[in-house]
Amino acid sequence: MKSRYEAAKNVFIDSIDIDDYIELESSVSAYRQLQHSIEKPLKMILLFGRPGTGKSILLNRVAEKLKHQKEIYYFDTPATNDKEFFHKLFKVLTKQDLPKNTEVNFSALVNYCKGLRGKREIIILLDEAQMYGPEMMEKIRLISDSRAVKFIVSLHKTEDEDLIAKEHFQSRIWEVIELHNASKEDQAAYIHKKLLKKNLFEIANSLKEKEMKLIHKFTKGNYRECNKLLFTIFEICEYYDKNEPSKVNYERVPQRIIEMAALKLGYIDV
Ligand SMILES: Nc1ncnc2c1ncn2[C@@H]1O[C@H](COP(=O)(O)OP(=O)(O)OP(=O)(O)O)[C@@H](O)[C@H]1O
Ligand SMILES: [Mg+2]
Repeated sequence: MKSRYEAAKNVFIDSIDIDDYIELESSVSAYRQLQHSIEKPLKMILLFGRPGTGKSILLNRVAEKLKHQKEIYYFDTPATNDKEFFHKLFKVLTKQDLPKNTEVNFSALVNYCKGLRGKREIIILLDEAQMYGPEMMEKIRLISDSRAVKFIVSLHKTEDEDLIAKEHFQSRIWEVIELHNASKEDQAAYIHKKLLKKNLFEIANSLKEKEMKLIHKFTKGNYRECNKLLFTIFEICEYYDKNEPSKVNYERVPQRIIEMAALKLGYIDV
């Protein structure tokens, strides 16, 4: 027999599908900030935050929301080489395909962009930009100088390096929007809303304030970690539901199960 926890578990599979987007206090404010920056005469906007803080899903949301009003494009994982990237950019700008074996003439592309000034306003959402090298970033900047193409560059912050303090980001005038881990309230809202969206009312209700606090303690409010932990919690619940139903409590997810999941994911030691 299927366990009721199976559906709950699957709610927390990591996804940047726009249908899974949830309005939270922090995401609404980041969205507004981004939308506001897009309206300003900026060449580049930097979206910054640790992995799993919701940058990609936000970019997808912006692209989806503005697609009828603006010429906006989402570039996901960076192309493995410059050539591929400029082919993609060429296509977006000129609406023409270049033959595979031809290289984009960069200065011609820059001139083309200059010619678009005042005629078109193109917005490119560049995700995972930490993977573009300094040379590429310099070229991207040159294109943005045309003022016909605006870039929103999403970068993830790592523990050991402060990218903003480095190289090209330092001297330029950027508008920076930073995403953070969720507050306790936002994380609890995120978990509940995700479950309610799939009509899992009883399960949503079985995670009360105390459980939410514990989940926040382990994940520090990081959305990706939160997904992992919730997936594992419901995986364990599913196992017990099928094999030892006396160990699950449908009214309230047992604290012990949350701790087992945290142990499994390495948030706590034995
Ligand atoms: N507002 C939101 N609504 C729905 N899901 C969200 C929201 N914010 C974050 N998430 C979820 O959290 C997870 C991590 O988000 P996302 O992949 O966008 O992070 P990221 O900042 O792009 O991480 P990375 O730097 O590793 O690429 C995804 O599964 C995403 O669906
Ligand atoms: Mg991402």
